[in-house]
Amino acid sequence: MQARQDSALPQFPTRGRTMRPANTSLLPVEAYTSPHWFEREQQELFAQTWQFVGMREEWSQAGHYACVDVGRAPLVIVADADGTLRAFHNICRHRGTQLLSGSGQLDSGIRCPYHSWLYSLSGVLQGLPQPDLFPDIQKTQLGLLPAAVETWKGMVFVHTDPQAVPLASWFAGLEERLSPHKPQELREAAVHRYIIRANWKVFVENYLDGYHLRYLHRHSASEYDHGRQDGRFVGLHWTFYQPLSAHGQQKAPAWNAYVPRIPDYPEHVSGAFAPMLFPNIGILATEHFWTTVHVQPVAPDHTLIELRTRLVPDVVGAKEVRTVYNAFAQSQDKPQAGRFDEGAAAQPESLLHSEDIMLEDIHVCQMTQRAMRSPAFGVGAYAKYYEDALPQYQRHILSYVPVRKEAQVAA
Ligand code: FES
Ligand SMILES: [Fe+2]
Repeated sequence: MQARQDSALPQFPTRGRTMRPANTSLLPVEAYTSPHWFEREQQELFAQTWQFVGMREEWSQAGHYACVDVGRAPLVIVADADGTLRAFHNICRHRGTQLLSGSGQLDSGIRCPYHSWLYSLSGVLQGLPQPDLFPDIQKTQLGLLPAAVETWKGMVFVHTDPQAVPLASWFAGLEERLSPHKPQELREAAVHRYIIRANWKVFVENYLDGYHLRYLHRHSASEYDHGRQDGRFVGLHWTFYQPLSAHGQQKAPAWNAYVPRIPDYPEHVSGAFAPMLFPNIGILATEHFWTTVHVQPVAPDHTLIELRTRLVPDVVGAKEVRTVYNAFAQSQDKPQAGRFDEGAAAQPESLLHSEDIMLEDIHVCQMTQRAMRSPAFGVGAYAKYYEDALPQYQRHILSYVPVRKEAQVAA
């Protein structure tokens, strides 16, 4: 077969120049689509900020460890012999192999699989085979490199830099704008994961958007009074609360019968808290539950959303949370049976009609991401007050990952 001549190829108009509309977004489209920007975020944002890794109770036993990647840095968080939490760069000091993966239980130390160097649970190099082959090394100089680890409201955060600003300063002023929950006193009831086909910031921006609540979620979030929402930043972190609507107050007794209110939860803040701790850890909290929404970038257009829900302990003991919610949904004659089903996000056509807040959000995030591939994509305007958070959040991102000249040219 004869090769096609260039002249046989269809002639496209000059790409994008005339079509691309003005974009009110402070972040260029490439910030949501480009592998280059994604890589910069790993290094300039995630490796430079405190990152959520789990709840303190997960390290309740000496020797328990869990590995995470923060930016491109593999870290390991381990409970040492005294039960103190420690974080290290998960990299052997001999030839740099990653020491551990996943999570599990260590006996007394961390042994490198490559040449068997052994570190204590507190990171000290304890021994190595054939030490006579290393006549000049100082073992004290070759302990594991520390990272920072701290706990806040039962949540464990790590930072690649052992000299990072303390977590209390990072979250300064935030406490009084958060919900009154004591997550440490609740018990984890369910973990649900969704892989969505959208950039992680598309999901976060949707999370900050108070405008869509009464439209996209007109049924699924009708228990809340969107007109009385109160959202604002404290430093880099978003705080948000909306009270119960009249409809929500009416339904409250029925809800309470299925998922008891958290004991001592103050009546005057019944409703939904939905803060977003910069850059990527949301919390959803009501008088019934407390859920972390961990937004984890996987690729420029793929994100893992992990929801971990905590309830009062006796509920968890009595019934599985999925059963509790589904039973309630069915009793209300709402088609919410799939609410907590994993994998539902794989069926895009079902999302919009799911009557499930999470699935509805996933649907619009995925559709926005799809549209971003077009040269006609642009953000025309942001709603006053209800969408003010979006450009402000973008500014926060830009303070870590500034637009470079070459990106502007490419845009
Ligand atoms: S790389 Fe770890 S012992 Fe050699
Ligand atoms: Fe939403």
